[in-house]
Amino acid sequence: MTNYIPEPFRIKMIEPIHLISLEAREAALKRAKFNIFNLRSDEVYIDLLTDSGTGAMSQSQWAAMLEGDESYAGARSYERLSQVVKEIFGFKHFVPTHQGRAAENILTAIALKPGQFVPSNMHFDTTEGNILARGGKPVNLVDEVAFKPEAIVDFKGNMDLSKLRAFIQEKGATNIPFGMITITNNAGGGQPVSMENLKGVSKIYHEFGIPFIIDACRFAENAYFIKLRETGYSKKSILEIAKETFSLADGVTMSAKKDGLANIGGFLCLNDDAWFEKVRAELILREGFVTYGGLAGRDLDAIAVGLMEALEEGYLAYRVGQTKYLSEQLLASGVPIVQPAGGHAIYVDAAKMLSHLKRDQFPGQALTIALYREGGIRGVEIGAVAFGHDDPDTGAPVYPELELVRLALPRRVYTQSHLDYVADILAQLQKKPKAIGGVKMTRAPKLLRHFSAEFELLSP
Ligand code: F0G
Repeated sequence: MTNYIPEPFRIKMIEPIHLISLEAREAALKRAKFNIFNLRSDEVYIDLLTDSGTGAMSQSQWAAMLEGDESYAGARSYERLSQVVKEIFGFKHFVPTHQGRAAENILTAIALKPGQFVPSNMHFDTTEGNILARGGKPVNLVDEVAFKPEAIVDFKGNMDLSKLRAFIQEKGATNIPFGMITITNNAGGGQPVSMENLKGVSKIYHEFGIPFIIDACRFAENAYFIKLRETGYSKKSILEIAKETFSLADGVTMSAKKDGLANIGGFLCLNDDAWFEKVRAELILREGFVTYGGLAGRDLDAIAVGLMEALEEGYLAYRVGQTKYLSEQLLASGVPIVQPAGGHAIYVDAAKMLSHLKRDQFPGQALTIALYREGGIRGVEIGAVAFGHDDPDTGAPVYPELELVRLALPRRVYTQSHLDYVADILAQLQKKPKAIGGVKMTRAPKLLRHFSAEFELLSP
């Protein structure tokens, strides 16, 4: 038996990639002000910046795109996607949006008033940003174990149910226009949420009359973890588990760039008629008519096929097998990571790996830079740069609990030897961590600062 699952596809079209020289990588970093978002993709060898919109489409998706109906209203492509969304998600109303954050924007525009709270296990940064932009307050109530990188727990994305209940009682249900949960929990290691926990969350929100909205970006990976790990689900299909998941909620925001296996797109589903009336008006203003929502007809067809492919067990076994394989390589060479491996990414514990650096020297950013310098690999910091901020009253820096570097795996793109290469580069860095110096942030925008912050290197 092998300890890995070979790719369940063969490659019939290739995109060349190159490792540019060390001198060229150093020059690129300097030009980018040491922020990897400023690198050009042809300067990157293995791009693990995100799994969002970066996947490879199948021959069936490309074929479906040729049938895209570009009619402004009532396109056949919309009907096809509607049917698939109805089949998997089951909500009464559905509108396409150009990506996930557009669905978040519309939802917060119609439902959220300044000063109100939106609880979740952990909000992703665009969700947090959209809530803040409307004057709302995002609240993270994930189980504490999520903050212990080495704790091996099956469902580390679960909400702390007693904290959720206490929070609603303290703030009052009228101050919570809707409650959320993110599956899988991207900001906390790509960790899944169990069906039992989803049921508990649904029960609590509904007991207080609060609509329950799921951030469903990686719902297929979450369903696969439920099948693998939760009692009573091993014989259920991924579609059955997905249906049960969504039957607990009143709506979803979705980025089809993840488990829609598409390069662009998203959607918003809701059951409530009154909310949906408002959504239609907002969508037409911001995104486009309700049957295309800012997308081309061909995009809708790519998503319709992609959503069904994402439910295939052979695909999911390989997908989750890839992160597991990479995690095993890294653990074997002593690289500290969040355990167990997440669904779409590996999260390196930069605070532990570079324990000689202080928080204000940004170990996550320092490791991100070192990974690119050493091997042309682009990961992303998920730590003090992405989630830290200055206290509005005192000006003192506030740091998130974890200091991680995420290596997100695009879907169906890299092979196992690419993963071996990534593991080798990290193993080399792990041998002499003290050779990696910290960084100083020289430009720090207020909102979503990791996209445009700038840095200088400090000597090791
Ligand atoms: N929710 C979650 C959990 C996400 O991971 C993302 C995007 C979004 C919402 C927003 O969707 O990008 O289509 O607007 N995550 C990407 C990432 C960007 O790299 O993790 P979007």
